[in-house]
Amino acid sequence: MSIERTPAPHDLLAFYVEAGVDCALDEVAADRLAAPEPAPPPRPAAAAPQPRPAAPAAPALLPGHAAAAPDVAIQSAREAARTAATLEDLRALMEGFDGCALKVTASRLVFADGNPQARVMFVGEAPGRDEDLQGLPFVGRSGQLLNRMMAAIGLSRDSAYITNIIPWRPPGNRDPSPIETQICLPFIKRHIELVDPEVLVCLGKPSTQTLLNVTDGIVRTRGRWFDYDTGSRVIGAMPTFHPAYLLRQPVSKRQSWQDFRAIARRLAERTGGAQ
Ligand code: URA
Repeated sequence: MSIERTPAPHDLLAFYVEAGVDCALDEVAADRLAAPEPAPPPRPAAAAPQPRPAAPAAPALLPGHAAAAPDVAIQSAREAARTAATLEDLRALMEGFDGCALKVTASRLVFADGNPQARVMFVGEAPGRDEDLQGLPFVGRSGQLLNRMMAAIGLSRDSAYITNIIPWRPPGNRDPSPIETQICLPFIKRHIELVDPEVLVCLGKPSTQTLLNVTDGIVRTRGRWFDYDTGSRVIGAMPTFHPAYLLRQPVSKRQSWQDFRAIARRLAERTGGAQ
């Protein structure tokens, strides 16, 4: 058996960074290997009746952040989203919404970027580290690629609108859970309804499956037009590869380019120009 040396702190940090851990959730590390607390000894049979201890309070995420049951949080997101008459209302409601635990670990809400009057709206999955720091969607490496892809069809952040399904960064960029997605769904649906674009572009599988109610992966759905009911009208929705995927698989940029050309054609069909 080999004797393992104790890792130096910088080795450990390098390991964490490599593994994608880039934020601390607690002041003190949880020792998950520690022996469980010993069970309290049984009460003597003839003990005098004790006053009943008060029921423990429901665990709060942070002061002011209620750990609501998922169905309660989903219902309260639905009710809140319905009352938003404008994008400013929606942003304020989301800022004040405490039903999604991701808000506790994120630095801020990442609402949207771009032109709210745009004819085309891009929806990604969830903010990453750069987006969390700046409070704007798609500002990191995948955002820079998205900018270049948009520019290739004559779009920019002045003529397109960009947001995500999930407005708070999941810790360490983990995937949002299905419950977190369901809690945030009423907000993104209302967001789309308020922007009222002519064309919706779903960036990647999570956005496509969540908004278009499909189970197929992105390879099968990309490049096809779907109907999306905004609540006020039916618009065309196009799934395409997420720019982060294209950074890992540049060979797929060719298909992505076909999708973007189809989006440009759709916009041009109506007014003779992509903008
Ligand atoms: N990936 C996303 O899905 N959204 C962002 O805002 C950034 C990266």
